[in-house]
Amino acid sequence: MKQVLLLGGTGFVGRSVCEALARRAPALRVVVPSRRPERAKRLAPLPTVQLVRADVHDEAQLATLLEGCDAAVNLVAILHGSEAAFERTHVELPRKLANACHARGVRRLMHVSALGANANGPSRYLRSKGRGEAVLREAALDLSVLRPSVIFGADDRFLNLFARLQSIFPVLPLAGAKARFQPVWVGDVAAAIVRCLFDGHGDRAGNRAGNRDRNGSTIGATFECAGPQVLTLAELVRLAGRWSGHPRPVIALPDALGRLQALVMELVPGEPLMSRDNLDSMRVDNIASGALPGLAALGIEARSLESVAPAYLRRR
Ligand SMILES: NC(=O)c1ccc[n+]([C@@H]2O[C@H](COP(=O)([O-])OP(=O)(O)OC[C@H]3O[C@@H](n4cnc5c(N)ncnc54)[C@H](OP(=O)(O)O)[C@@H]3O)[C@@H](O)[C@H]2O)c1
Repeated sequence: MKQVLLLGGTGFVGRSVCEALARRAPALRVVVPSRRPERAKRLAPLPTVQLVRADVHDEAQLATLLEGCDAAVNLVAILHGSEAAFERTHVELPRKLANACHARGVRRLMHVSALGANANGPSRYLRSKGRGEAVLREAALDLSVLRPSVIFGADDRFLNLFARLQSIFPVLPLAGAKARFQPVWVGDVAAAIVRCLFDGHGDRAGNRAGNRDRNGSTIGATFECAGPQVLTLAELVRLAGRWSGHPRPVIALPDALGRLQALVMELVPGEPLMSRDNLDSMRVDNIASGALPGLAALGIEARSLESVAPAYLRRR
């Protein structure tokens, strides 16, 4: 494998994937399109990464980006937005990417979705993620899908956010406090992507099995990426407070108040801390179903929260 296209490579997970790829394959060229490449400072020192200003929603540009690539990885996603924005990013973009892959003869595609992705799920986010997966499964490419639970790591926007809020406010009124997660370390998600990518030329029987086949191919498989512990949102928020040195009382909000809080946050300009759609996503547990292979099937022993998060939260 000589060249890979990494959509969303400037993001939280993408940066770790770039670093993991540089370690695993120093000769591999990683093409990373971005709307604002000048902001991707952490990628600049990596000689393997070629940052390109591009609009990934433009099918012609996608086809150009795929020129000379052996595989593509899609990490582009949004957490908040209108029905149309979710459709464009989570469904139409995968469709355009699949078309461009066909046009360029690129067969290998890795797609990062989310635990709970389901066309009939409770939120716009989960429904659009489910439809995006379906589009790609119909595309007859050598596809692997990863479904992570919430991802933690030194520059996550999850534990760091709750640590920051507790450093500012004396108490934390929390919506969705009982929602359950199985947090997974960003390094493990990146390792899973790299593992699948280099497994990309295996036996295609896995396509039908929906699992790793006897020869160990990841093609056609969907992996649930989850860590070793199941924790409620309230427990995670308390840990973020304790490990960052600002433990505050966490007050679980009743559903109606939680929705009101989310509505107010949506009305504040900028990215909301929590939207009503996020609360809808939390109506289903964000934990591995066990019906699909997990990180262990890729030979990855998932790191625990305690082994990683206290160090970076303490440094905040
Ligand atoms: N983080 C988590 O806890 C978590 C949990 C479950 C699943 N996931 C999934 O993992 C994948 C990566 O997540 P992440 O946390 O790394 O995301 P992220 O940090 O938000 O990065 C996503 C990247 O995609 C690009 N992007 C975002 N919106 C776009 C748009 N509308 N059009 C074009 N490009 C856009 C951005 O690149 P530019 O700004 O450079 O263009 C951004 O760097 C996503 O599929 C996400 O759903 C993440």
